[in-house]
Amino acid sequence: MPSVLSAGQEQDYRKDGFIIVRNMFSAAEVDLLRRAMEEDPEIAAHSLIRPDTQGGGTRISLWNRAGNSVYGLAARTARMVDTAEALIGEPVYHFQSKLTAKDPFGGGAWEWHQDYGYWYYNGCLRPDMLSMMIALDRSDRTNGCLQVIRGSHRLGRIDHLQVTEKQNSADPARLEHILARHEVVHCELDPGDALIFHANTLHRSDQNQSPNRRWTLIICYNAVANDTVTRDDDRYYVPLDKVGDDAVLAAGLKFAGGGREHFTSQSYVPAAEKAS
Ligand code: SIN
Ligand code: MN
Repeated sequence: MPSVLSAGQEQDYRKDGFIIVRNMFSAAEVDLLRRAMEEDPEIAAHSLIRPDTQGGGTRISLWNRAGNSVYGLAARTARMVDTAEALIGEPVYHFQSKLTAKDPFGGGAWEWHQDYGYWYYNGCLRPDMLSMMIALDRSDRTNGCLQVIRGSHRLGRIDHLQVTEKQNSADPARLEHILARHEVVHCELDPGDALIFHANTLHRSDQNQSPNRRWTLIICYNAVANDTVTRDDDRYYVPLDKVGDDAVLAAGLKFAGGGREHFTSQSYVPAAEKAS
């Protein structure tokens, strides 16, 4: 299957550094993904808290390999892989996936950052990487949807400073100038919608102070030729076995098993200078 994007959407991605694809996954598929995040014991067993600067925290679970669970298969579907390859322009592999579970009344904020601000330190030499954020719940301004800075993928890699023990932020002094010149877009998503964004696109989100949960699944791809030059963790290249688009429904509520997904027991936060 070719990329799900029209030529116009692909152009928008190149110009803006992000694009929203409505209904990337159907209601029945997203229901399976949501239930897997809620019910798979591996997800719960690898749940970590990522503190924010305001005394809150987001619950995350992270894994590096796309296996045979329903969420591993989602990352391997032709529609996802072919779209990532069309945007990156080269063969890709699965780099990382995570559940970001913002619970009602306090699910934590994320500071402005580029994913490549982190992934640079995994030994990826080029920012030819992207993320696909799949909404599991409705995600809007009221419950801390993702915000992106339009066109920020063209600013190059920005220095990041440590703001909490588990969170780095793009240099606030530089951000001030960026925010004065660029538009901030609140990306509101319905369940099954995907927000695709470039590894250098600046993004953040507010705490969830609403009664409505905001869970998302973020699936990230890297160009095979941009494999990590270090082997410090297991984000290095392993072949990605693409599956048909019917694989998610065919799998049903299939959980991870046998350690194939390579869940991580701590989030990867490169050492950075502390923000003053
Ligand atoms: C992220 O940047 O990885 C997560 C942001 C969010 O869940 O709002
Ligand atoms: Mn991010």
